[in-house]
Amino acid sequence: MTLSKHKKYMEMAFKEALKGTNRTLTNPLVGAVVVKNGNIVGYGHHAYFGGQHAEEQALIKAGKSSKGSDLYVTLEPCSSYGKRPPCTDIINKFGVKNVYFESYDLNIENNKKASKYLKKFGINSFKIDTGLPSLSEYNAAYVKIVKQKLPFIILKAGLTLDGKLCDKNGCSKWITSQASRIFSHKLRASVNAILIGSNTFNKDNPKLNIRAPIKYKYNDPYKVILTGSGNLKLSNELIKKPQKGRVIIATTLSGKTYLTKRLKKVPDHISIETFSAMSNMKIPIKKILIRLKNKYNIASILVEGGAKVFTYFTKKSCFDKFYLFYSPRFFGTGGKCCSLFTETLQEQAGKPLKNRIIETIRLSSDILTVIENRT
Ligand SMILES: NC(=O)c1ccc[n+]([C@@H]2O[C@H](COP(=O)([O-])OP(=O)(O)OC[C@H]3O[C@@H](n4cnc5c(N)ncnc54)[C@H](OP(=O)(O)O)[C@@H]3O)[C@@H](O)[C@H]2O)c1
Repeated sequence: MTLSKHKKYMEMAFKEALKGTNRTLTNPLVGAVVVKNGNIVGYGHHAYFGGQHAEEQALIKAGKSSKGSDLYVTLEPCSSYGKRPPCTDIINKFGVKNVYFESYDLNIENNKKASKYLKKFGINSFKIDTGLPSLSEYNAAYVKIVKQKLPFIILKAGLTLDGKLCDKNGCSKWITSQASRIFSHKLRASVNAILIGSNTFNKDNPKLNIRAPIKYKYNDPYKVILTGSGNLKLSNELIKKPQKGRVIIATTLSGKTYLTKRLKKVPDHISIETFSAMSNMKIPIKKILIRLKNKYNIASILVEGGAKVFTYFTKKSCFDKFYLFYSPRFFGTGGKCCSLFTETLQEQAGKPLKNRIIETIRLSSDILTVIENRT
């Protein structure tokens, strides 16, 4: 078969893979297509963490037609037991003849192992290169989790064209359009956790829930509140009311003491995580991220501010993408009006760029700019 034929099917498999965007972590995005006598008889993708793998979904769709078929998969099929049985066994069960895959899996349990297992079953397998985007491009969050063992971090802010997060009265609600807000809620549904600082928690009393129709199955994200001091308003919703996603308060030992003294009993929906702090009562962000990953299996986090938190994450270069929703307003300066950042950052005019704009989207009256951190 010519490379262009392989490419056609692999491109279809790739489009399938993208349907699972942001929902599969800590698993990768994977798409698969089953071809028999030049006809596509099945296709599928990995839709969410713990769900059927792409190969299984595609082969079930193909049913009896999968016997003697060619299977195109964007990623090397898994050959180990995880939440699902090994795909190599499933491929064998359905009687596939040839398997074509584009990238090796990075996970050491599966890396470069599929061919060995498939060969035992008498199935041919081929690693092919049809020129699709690399694994690190379309599976960036997965690659980060596997290689760095850290969650994928998305910062998200709604601001004016002059870079202000709130007006002279300190109000940050209704800066952006409804279209931007719906987009933000969809972003929330795509991550494992949402994180905010204590001032945003105290001032805005946010719900951090998902108030937009979401077509796919998702788990309610954890809600993480950062506070060195433990000075949180106890009457606020996330503390007072049981939540769909668990609330995690990341604090210091003294912060925990201060909190628990006032709370008397920690509500069942809240976990308090303590960390040793630096002299300024700040917890090193990496320590928090490692704990969230290892203890709660949090693989992606949407950081929703405020300014101090944005500053801290940006200064430490601790983000992968920044979603900036710009409304065509100007707040100027004065009063409680605050900028996106509270301190001078290292970036300087004339120096090489550290960030790259990867997307701009018009959302009603607003513009969404998505930045990728390249440091
Ligand atoms: N337009 C928008 O998109 C948007 C989004 C969010 C917020 N806002 C606005 O932003 C304002 C709040 O921003 P802000 O800069 O004042 O505060 P903030 O960033 O919300 O919270 C800062 C606080 O978070 C805690 N914190 C941050 N990093 C920490 C670390 N590494 N370790 C421990 N604790 C840490 C500290 O709490 P402790 O002091 O308790 O130790 C710190 O004082 C509000 O007016 C809000 O409405 C706007």
